Amino acid sequence: MSAANPQHKTSQPLAANLTNVHASMATSQDTVQTKSETRVDTRVETKSPIIVALDKADLMAALTLADQLDPNYCRVKVGKELYTACGPQIIDNLQQRGFEIFLDLKFHDIPNTTAQAVLAAADMGVWMVNVHASAGFDAMSEAKKRLVNAGHVTQLIAVTVLTSMTEQGLEQIGVAGSLLDQVQRLALLTKEAGLDGVVCSAQEASVLKQLCGQGFKLITPGIRLTGDDSNDQKRICTPQAALNNGSDYLVIGRSISQAADPNQKLLAIIDSLKQA
Ligand code: C5P
Repeated sequence: MSAANPQHKTSQPLAANLTNVHASMATSQDTVQTKSETRVDTRVETKSPIIVALDKADLMAALTLADQLDPNYCRVKVGKELYTACGPQIIDNLQQRGFEIFLDLKFHDIPNTTAQAVLAAADMGVWMVNVHASAGFDAMSEAKKRLVNAGHVTQLIAVTVLTSMTEQGLEQIGVAGSLLDQVQRLALLTKEAGLDGVVCSAQEASVLKQLCGQGFKLITPGIRLTGDDSNDQKRICTPQAALNNGSDYLVIGRSISQAADPNQKLLAIIDSLKQA
């Protein structure tokens, strides 16, 4: 394990692995060096494909939700709202609780700024970080290059087209043609730039698996259980359908965070996936 990169090896969560979720705790407690401190790493390397979005406005609210979840059964996602409110403290607090973190800041800037932001995220020990594919090939490949040069194993993925976007929305910003064409174009560009995968809708997952290959990870938000409110999401899918379509990781926010018992809902979803 590199001193610059405090991460455990990442797992390969497939439907077939779901029965082993219980047996997936990291066995050792490694001492890790982050930029700011040395501390005991208690993070759990789970085989669960679920990433729970901690879309909360402040530290207390996010930690209250995290404390209702078990890092053996999910990773957590820290997005723009929470990170802007709390800064690196939230990353440290969640890692101390055993969670691996997807830092979803969707960087979109010139190559140097994008790459340095990605590097700063990896230095905090996050498991996954992302950029917008529409930042372009140079921004993506530079970010990947700097991660590799620093010895980081943090997964770097790119957002293709937001799952809240429609074809009409794309047309409004000057992108002509079909939404699926745009998703495929950006996914191929991401792969060419050497990234680990893309964020996309689970509705596009089977096409993208065929296009980009099995090793290219598909991270899919817009997951809703039958009967759930779709809220602002437009291209939604059930957890089972998402996995069947080839999703590697399912990002689930409100369906879990707004449940009366978030952990029970998480476990029910994992159970339902065993039939996927
Ligand atoms: O509550 P819900 O399940 O809709 O949350 C989805 C999460 O995934 C949110 O944190 C949102 O920012 C994120 N996300 C998304 N679509 C993308 C990329 C990320 O919904 N394309």
